[in-house]
Amino acid sequence: MNWENLSKVFEQKFGKSPSLLARAPGRVNLLGEHVDYNQGLVLPAAIDRAVYLASAPSDDDCVTLCALDLDERTSFKLSELESKINRDGESLPTWASYPAGVAWALRASGLKIIGMQSVFTSDVPIGAGLSSSAALEVGFAVVWQALGGWKLDRMKLAQICQHAENEYVGVSCGLMDQFASACGVEGHALFFDTRSLEWHPAPLPTGTALVIADSGVRRSLTQSGYNERRTSCEQAVEELHKFMPTIQSLREVQPTDFAAYSIYLPEIPRKRAEHVVKEIVRVSSAMSALQREDKQAMGALMYAGHRSLRDLYEVSTPELDILVELTRKLPGCIGARLTGAGFGGCTVNLVEADQAEAFIQGLKDGYRQETGREAQVYLCRASQGASIEKRRT
Ligand code: GLA
Repeated sequence: MNWENLSKVFEQKFGKSPSLLARAPGRVNLLGEHVDYNQGLVLPAAIDRAVYLASAPSDDDCVTLCALDLDERTSFKLSELESKINRDGESLPTWASYPAGVAWALRASGLKIIGMQSVFTSDVPIGAGLSSSAALEVGFAVVWQALGGWKLDRMKLAQICQHAENEYVGVSCGLMDQFASACGVEGHALFFDTRSLEWHPAPLPTGTALVIADSGVRRSLTQSGYNERRTSCEQAVEELHKFMPTIQSLREVQPTDFAAYSIYLPEIPRKRAEHVVKEIVRVSSAMSALQREDKQAMGALMYAGHRSLRDLYEVSTPELDILVELTRKLPGCIGARLTGAGFGGCTVNLVEADQAEAFIQGLKDGYRQETGREAQVYLCRASQGASIEKRRT
């Protein structure tokens, strides 16, 4: 990021220098899809694409934000957060409900939130499954933290951002995305247990690289499809509860129990739950594969994860399937799968670093030939979580 330029833009908009520069990354998920809201295990990594913010405190209770990529500006009062309106009494634009939601959730946790001015830009593509919204939330959370002079641990910060998205924005996401954006570790994936909230960084195998391939397809049913999947999982727990009265979530269902009782489930909850139960096992196998640097095992688990998302969870698209299938014939590919919620968006590929260039070219060419579309395919580095880059007192 060219921080100098961002500071200049801030100066042009607000006639003063920013006091804080901050960034918060998007994430890619290597394995453990649609399991975070089932208390499962996930393996995301923060990426080197982020939201970048330049901010300064204001002298009133007003928050003025400029979304540079959209060329939009809005102001809202902290005293009117609850009603989700701007200073002119109109509804907040969707993009502004993320920062407003964060302010609302931080305040609900008893933290001091002050008025501010902020400009921001992002190179996390929107709606591509790389958590542009979580990056926005976590970005504003670290800015408000720095301006407010309090300090929360990163997990708590992520939970508050998730609360903002669940209750203020109205999307019932799990904790994975906000966690990854807040807690990312350079060069590492993050092995995260969403039930105990324990986590540790897991190095990627030596000599491997992560490649993201964006299918360019965005589906509008993401939100309703996502909520439907959640409901089916809850239904499965309710049914299985009859046989396993102590379970609270699919996390507590072992594959052997599932094999015994799944015949009693209606078809849709059965398929969804089968994905979740086996995906959780895959993440734990991936963890030991990474520990022993067994790339082949890791790759096989990724491919199996994709099949399961395609056939059991039914969140893939023809374009994502093509992107994954193409990799089987390309040089250096270890594993590939769709990443994020699905319904369009991106695939994540684990590839041999020294063959990454040929892999990227091959995937772009193959995708163009098969679909007539262009895919954005690029190398991505696992990066550090959100940070304050510069502070002027
Ligand atoms: C979205 C949600 C996450 C998670 C993934 C699917 O990214 O925000 O909480 O559920 O989908 O794994």
